[in-house]
Amino acid sequence: MEDVEHIEKKMKLIDENGLRLDGRKPEDMRPIRMEVGVLKRADGSAYIEWGGNKVLAAVYGPREAHPRHLQDPTKALVQCRYNMAPFSVTERKRPGPDRRSVEISKVISEAFDSVVFSEQFPRASVDIFIEILQADAGTRCAGLTAASIALADAGIPMRDLVASCAVGKIDGVVCLDLRKEEDNYGDADMPVAMIPRTGEVLLLQMDGHLTLDEFDKAFGMVKDAIGGIYEMQKDALRKRYAVTAEEFSDLPEQAPPERRAPPEREAPPEMPPEDGEVPQ
Ligand code: CDP
Repeated sequence: MEDVEHIEKKMKLIDENGLRLDGRKPEDMRPIRMEVGVLKRADGSAYIEWGGNKVLAAVYGPREAHPRHLQDPTKALVQCRYNMAPFSVTERKRPGPDRRSVEISKVISEAFDSVVFSEQFPRASVDIFIEILQADAGTRCAGLTAASIALADAGIPMRDLVASCAVGKIDGVVCLDLRKEEDNYGDADMPVAMIPRTGEVLLLQMDGHLTLDEFDKAFGMVKDAIGGIYEMQKDALRKRYAVTAEEFSDLPEQAPPERRAPPEREAPPEMPPEDGEVPQ
Protein backbone atom coordinates (compact mmCIF):
# COMPACT_ATOMS: atom_id res chain seq x y z
CA MET A 1 0.00 0.00 0.00
CA GLU A 2 2.83 2.32 0.88
CA ASP A 3 4.41 1.60 -2.49
CA VAL A 4 1.20 2.50 -4.34
CA GLU A 5 0.93 5.79 -2.46
CA HIS A 6 4.57 6.49 -3.29
CA ILE A 7 3.95 5.88 -7.02
CA GLU A 8 0.79 8.00 -6.99
CA LYS A 9 2.59 10.92 -5.37
CA LYS A 10 5.44 10.67 -7.85
CA MET A 11 3.17 10.76 -10.93
CA LYS A 12 4.09 13.98 -12.70
CA LEU A 13 1.04 15.72 -14.10
CA ILE A 14 2.81 18.83 -15.40
CA ASP A 15 6.10 18.64 -17.29
CA GLU A 16 9.11 20.98 -17.20
CA ASN A 17 7.49 23.14 -19.95
CA GLY A 18 4.39 23.66 -17.85
CA LEU A 19 2.29 21.38 -20.06
CA ARG A 20 -0.16 18.73 -18.86
CA LEU A 21 -0.29 15.02 -19.77
CA ASP A 22 -2.26 15.73 -22.96
CA GLY A 23 -0.18 18.78 -23.89
CA ARG A 24 -2.66 21.34 -22.59
CA LYS A 25 -1.69 24.52 -20.83
CA PRO A 26 -3.25 25.06 -17.38
CA GLU A 27 -5.99 27.33 -18.79
CA ASP A 28 -6.91 25.03 -21.71
CA MET A 29 -10.13 23.02 -21.90
CA ARG A 30 -10.50 19.71 -23.68
CA PRO A 31 -12.25 19.75 -27.10
CA ILE A 32 -16.04 19.94 -26.86
CA ARG A 33 -18.66 18.98 -29.43
CA MET A 34 -22.38 19.14 -28.75
CA GLU A 35 -25.51 18.37 -30.70
CA VAL A 36 -29.17 19.03 -29.93
CA GLY A 37 -32.16 16.85 -30.84
CA VAL A 38 -30.46 13.47 -31.15
CA LEU A 39 -33.31 11.29 -29.81
CA LYS A 40 -36.72 10.97 -31.44
CA ARG A 41 -38.80 9.72 -28.52
CA ALA A 42 -37.77 12.25 -25.88
CA ASP A 43 -39.28 15.75 -25.79
CA GLY A 44 -35.77 17.19 -25.83
CA SER A 45 -32.31 15.71 -26.09
CA ALA A 46 -28.64 16.45 -26.54
CA TYR A 47 -25.34 14.65 -26.94
CA ILE A 48 -21.98 15.98 -25.85
CA GLU A 49 -18.43 14.80 -26.36
CA TRP A 50 -16.06 16.54 -23.99
CA GLY A 51 -12.53 15.19 -24.12
CA GLY A 52 -12.97 11.50 -23.29
CA ASN A 53 -16.53 11.99 -21.98
CA LYS A 54 -19.51 10.92 -24.05
CA VAL A 55 -22.83 11.91 -22.55
CA LEU A 56 -26.48 11.76 -23.63
CA ALA A 57 -29.21 13.85 -22.03
CA ALA A 58 -32.94 13.34 -22.54
CA VAL A 59 -35.83 15.40 -21.19
CA TYR A 60 -39.50 14.52 -20.78
CA GLY A 61 -42.19 16.92 -19.70
CA PRO A 62 -43.74 18.88 -18.32
CA ARG A 63 -45.97 15.84 -17.71
CA GLU A 64 -48.15 14.64 -14.86
CA ALA A 65 -45.91 13.71 -11.94
CA HIS A 66 -45.92 10.07 -10.85
CA PRO A 67 -46.34 8.72 -8.23
CA ARG A 68 -49.14 11.19 -7.54
CA HIS A 69 -48.29 11.68 -3.87
CA LEU A 70 -45.13 13.45 -5.01
CA GLN A 71 -47.12 16.07 -6.93
CA ASP A 72 -46.70 19.64 -5.75
CA PRO A 73 -49.90 21.70 -6.31
CA THR A 74 -47.83 24.89 -6.53
CA LYS A 75 -45.11 23.87 -9.00
CA ALA A 76 -43.53 21.22 -11.17
CA LEU A 77 -40.90 18.84 -9.81
CA VAL A 78 -37.58 19.04 -11.59
CA GLN A 79 -36.06 15.59 -11.30
CA CYS A 80 -32.74 14.44 -12.67
CA ARG A 81 -31.35 10.92 -12.90
CA TYR A 82 -27.62 10.74 -13.56
CA ASN A 83 -26.52 7.25 -14.56
CA MET A 84 -23.18 5.77 -15.54
CA ALA A 85 -23.28 2.91 -18.04
CA PRO A 86 -21.42 -0.21 -16.84
CA PHE A 87 -19.04 0.15 -19.81
CA SER A 88 -18.35 3.86 -19.24
CA VAL A 89 -15.35 3.32 -16.98
CA THR A 90 -12.28 1.06 -17.04
CA GLU A 91 -13.51 -1.20 -14.25
CA ARG A 92 -17.07 -2.32 -15.05
CA LYS A 93 -19.44 -0.10 -13.06
CA ARG A 94 -22.12 -2.07 -11.21
CA PRO A 95 -25.45 -1.12 -12.88
CA GLY A 96 -27.94 0.91 -10.87
CA PRO A 97 -27.78 3.85 -8.51
CA ASP A 98 -24.98 4.21 -5.96
CA ARG A 99 -24.17 6.94 -3.46
CA ARG A 100 -22.21 8.95 -6.00
CA SER A 101 -24.91 8.92 -8.69
CA VAL A 102 -27.65 9.75 -6.15
CA GLU A 103 -25.59 12.75 -4.99
CA ILE A 104 -24.92 13.96 -8.54
CA SER A 105 -28.59 13.52 -9.50
CA LYS A 106 -29.58 15.60 -6.48
CA VAL A 107 -27.20 18.50 -7.10
CA ILE A 108 -28.13 18.64 -10.80
CA SER A 109 -31.89 18.56 -9.98
CA GLU A 110 -31.38 21.47 -7.58
CA ALA A 111 -29.37 23.46 -10.12
CA PHE A 112 -32.15 23.18 -12.72
CA ASP A 113 -34.93 23.69 -10.18
CA SER A 114 -33.72 27.25 -9.77
CA VAL A 115 -33.85 28.09 -13.49
CA VAL A 116 -36.97 26.28 -14.73
CA PHE A 117 -40.20 28.32 -14.38
CA SER A 118 -41.72 25.45 -12.45
CA GLU A 119 -44.63 27.51 -11.04
CA GLN A 120 -46.15 27.45 -14.51
CA PHE A 121 -46.73 23.69 -14.27
CA PRO A 122 -48.33 22.68 -10.96
CA ARG A 123 -48.54 18.91 -10.28
CA ALA A 124 -46.26 18.20 -13.22
CA SER A 125 -42.72 16.90 -13.45
CA VAL A 126 -39.84 17.72 -15.72
CA ASP A 127 -37.67 14.63 -15.95
CA ILE A 128 -34.04 14.85 -16.97
CA PHE A 129 -32.04 11.73 -17.76
CA ILE A 130 -28.27 11.92 -18.03
CA GLU A 131 -26.54 8.82 -19.34
CA ILE A 132 -22.76 8.65 -19.14
CA LEU A 133 -21.63 6.43 -21.99
CA GLN A 134 -17.94 7.08 -21.51
CA ALA A 135 -16.34 8.80 -18.52
CA ASP A 136 -13.08 10.69 -18.22
CA ALA A 137 -13.71 13.07 -15.28
CA GLY A 138 -15.96 16.09 -15.39
CA THR A 139 -19.03 14.01 -16.23
CA ARG A 140 -21.39 15.99 -13.99
CA CYS A 141 -20.33 19.19 -15.80
CA ALA A 142 -20.75 17.58 -19.22
CA GLY A 143 -24.12 16.14 -18.11
CA LEU A 144 -25.37 19.50 -16.82
CA THR A 145 -24.27 21.29 -19.98
CA ALA A 146 -26.01 18.72 -22.19
CA ALA A 147 -29.15 18.62 -20.03
CA SER A 148 -29.47 22.38 -20.25
CA ILE A 149 -29.71 22.36 -24.05
CA ALA A 150 -31.95 19.28 -23.93
CA LEU A 151 -34.34 21.28 -21.69
CA ALA A 152 -34.29 24.13 -24.21
CA ASP A 153 -34.92 21.59 -26.99
CA ALA A 154 -37.96 20.31 -25.06
CA GLY A 155 -39.25 23.89 -24.92
CA ILE A 156 -39.19 24.02 -21.12
CA PRO A 157 -39.46 27.68 -20.04
CA MET A 158 -36.25 28.64 -18.21
CA ARG A 159 -34.62 31.83 -16.97
CA ASP A 160 -31.57 31.02 -19.09
CA LEU A 161 -29.22 28.21 -20.08
CA VAL A 162 -26.95 26.69 -17.45
CA ALA A 163 -23.35 25.91 -18.34
CA SER A 164 -20.78 24.04 -16.32
CA CYS A 165 -17.07 23.25 -16.13
CA ALA A 166 -14.60 22.04 -13.52
CA VAL A 167 -11.36 23.61 -12.37
CA GLY A 168 -8.77 22.12 -10.05
CA LYS A 169 -5.19 21.99 -8.86
CA ILE A 170 -2.54 19.56 -10.06
CA ASP A 171 1.11 19.54 -8.97
CA GLY A 172 0.31 22.76 -7.13
CA VAL A 173 -0.91 24.56 -10.30
CA VAL A 174 -4.50 25.73 -10.83
CA CYS A 175 -5.75 24.05 -14.03
CA LEU A 176 -8.99 24.03 -15.96
CA ASP A 177 -11.10 20.98 -16.83
CA LEU A 178 -9.19 18.05 -15.29
CA ARG A 179 -9.10 14.70 -17.04
CA LYS A 180 -9.25 11.43 -15.13
CA GLU A 181 -5.57 11.02 -14.19
CA GLU A 182 -5.46 14.66 -13.10
CA ASP A 183 -8.65 14.22 -11.09
CA ASN A 184 -7.36 11.02 -9.45
CA TYR A 185 -3.81 12.12 -8.67
CA GLY A 186 -4.26 15.90 -8.45
CA ASP A 187 -4.72 18.06 -5.36
CA ALA A 188 -8.22 19.49 -5.88
CA ASP A 189 -11.21 19.42 -8.22
CA MET A 190 -14.01 21.98 -8.21
CA PRO A 191 -17.02 21.55 -10.54
CA VAL A 192 -19.02 24.75 -11.04
CA ALA A 193 -22.33 25.44 -12.82
CA MET A 194 -23.55 28.95 -13.53
CA ILE A 195 -26.07 31.03 -15.37
CA PRO A 196 -23.38 32.62 -17.54
CA ARG A 197 -25.37 35.75 -18.38
CA THR A 198 -25.86 36.77 -14.74
CA GLY A 199 -22.89 35.02 -13.14
CA GLU A 200 -25.24 33.28 -10.67
CA VAL A 201 -23.67 30.09 -9.26
CA LEU A 202 -26.04 27.10 -9.23
CA LEU A 203 -23.55 24.42 -8.24
CA LEU A 204 -20.13 24.52 -6.66
CA GLN A 205 -18.51 21.48 -5.14
CA MET A 206 -14.97 20.95 -3.93
CA ASP A 207 -12.91 17.81 -3.62
CA GLY A 208 -9.53 18.66 -2.04
CA HIS A 209 -8.21 22.00 -0.87
CA LEU A 210 -7.46 25.39 -2.42
CA THR A 211 -6.07 28.46 -0.68
CA LEU A 212 -8.13 31.65 -0.92
CA ASP A 213 -5.85 33.02 -3.67
CA GLU A 214 -5.99 29.75 -5.57
CA PHE A 215 -9.77 29.76 -5.24
CA ASP A 216 -9.99 33.29 -6.67
CA LYS A 217 -7.77 32.32 -9.59
CA ALA A 218 -9.66 29.07 -10.17
CA PHE A 219 -13.04 30.78 -10.03
CA GLY A 220 -11.97 33.45 -12.52
CA MET A 221 -10.70 30.76 -14.89
CA VAL A 222 -13.81 28.60 -14.68
CA LYS A 223 -16.10 31.61 -15.08
CA ASP A 224 -14.42 32.52 -18.38
CA ALA A 225 -14.57 28.90 -19.54
CA ILE A 226 -18.28 28.72 -18.71
CA GLY A 227 -18.84 31.84 -20.82
CA GLY A 228 -17.27 30.01 -23.78
CA ILE A 229 -19.38 26.90 -23.19
CA TYR A 230 -22.52 29.09 -23.12
CA GLU A 231 -21.66 30.31 -26.63
CA MET A 232 -21.22 26.69 -27.80
CA GLN A 233 -24.61 25.80 -26.33
CA LYS A 234 -26.29 28.65 -28.18
CA ASP A 235 -24.52 27.61 -31.40
CA ALA A 236 -25.73 24.03 -30.99
CA LEU A 237 -29.32 25.26 -30.49
CA ARG A 238 -29.04 27.59 -33.50
CA LYS A 239 -27.76 24.71 -35.61
CA ARG A 240 -30.83 22.69 -34.66
CA TYR A 241 -33.41 25.41 -35.18
CA ALA A 242 -31.98 28.04 -37.47
CA VAL A 243 -33.13 28.03 -41.09
CA THR A 244 -30.67 29.35 -43.67
CA ALA A 245 -31.78 31.71 -46.46
CA GLU A 246 -31.42 28.83 -49.00
CA GLU A 247 -33.44 26.44 -46.85
CA PHE A 248 -36.05 29.14 -46.37
CA SER A 249 -36.40 29.68 -50.12
CA ASP A 250 -36.77 25.89 -50.57
CA LEU A 251 -39.76 25.80 -48.21
CA PRO A 252 -43.13 25.33 -50.00
CA GLU A 253 -44.62 28.75 -50.54
CA GLN A 254 -47.37 29.62 -48.11
CA ALA A 255 -49.58 32.63 -48.16
CA PRO A 256 -49.78 34.47 -44.83
CA PRO A 257 -52.60 33.03 -42.72
CA GLU A 258 -55.05 35.92 -43.35
CA ARG A 259 -54.75 35.51 -47.16
CA ARG A 260 -54.92 31.74 -47.19
CA ALA A 261 -58.04 30.20 -48.77
CA PRO A 262 -60.31 28.54 -46.23
CA PRO A 263 -59.62 24.82 -45.96
CA GLU A 264 -61.64 22.71 -48.36
CA ARG A 265 -64.49 21.00 -46.57
CA GLU A 266 -65.97 17.69 -47.45
CA ALA A 267 -69.29 18.11 -49.27
CA PRO A 268 -72.18 17.54 -46.85
CA PRO A 269 -73.99 14.21 -47.35
CA GLU A 270 -76.77 14.47 -49.95
CA MET A 271 -80.27 14.86 -48.60
CA PRO A 272 -82.69 12.05 -49.53
CA PRO A 273 -85.32 13.11 -52.13
CA GLU A 274 -88.40 14.71 -50.63
CA ASP A 275 -90.82 11.95 -51.64
CA GLY A 276 -88.88 9.60 -49.36
CA GLU A 277 -87.55 7.49 -52.23
CA VAL A 278 -84.14 6.18 -51.30
CA PRO A 279 -81.78 6.38 -54.27
CA GLN A 280 -80.38 2.97 -55.32
O1 CDP B 1 -17.16 12.70 -13.39
P1 CDP B 1 -17.05 13.72 -12.31
O2 CDP B 1 -15.71 14.41 -12.31
O3 CDP B 1 -18.20 14.68 -12.31
O4 CDP B 1 -17.18 12.95 -10.92
P2 CDP B 1 -16.07 12.28 -10.00
O5 CDP B 1 -16.81 11.56 -8.90
O6 CDP B 1 -15.05 13.28 -9.60
O7 CDP B 1 -15.42 11.17 -10.92
C1 CDP B 1 -14.27 11.41 -11.66
C2 CDP B 1 -14.07 10.31 -12.67
O8 CDP B 1 -13.74 9.11 -12.00
C3 CDP B 1 -15.27 9.94 -13.51
O9 CDP B 1 -15.53 10.85 -14.54
C4 CDP B 1 -14.83 8.61 -14.02
O10 CDP B 1 -13.94 8.75 -15.11
C5 CDP B 1 -14.11 8.03 -12.83
N1 CDP B 1 -14.97 7.07 -12.11
C6 CDP B 1 -14.73 5.71 -12.28
O11 CDP B 1 -13.80 5.35 -12.99
N2 CDP B 1 -15.55 4.79 -11.68
C7 CDP B 1 -16.59 5.18 -10.91
N3 CDP B 1 -17.37 4.28 -10.31
C8 CDP B 1 -16.83 6.55 -10.73
C9 CDP B 1 -16.00 7.47 -11.34
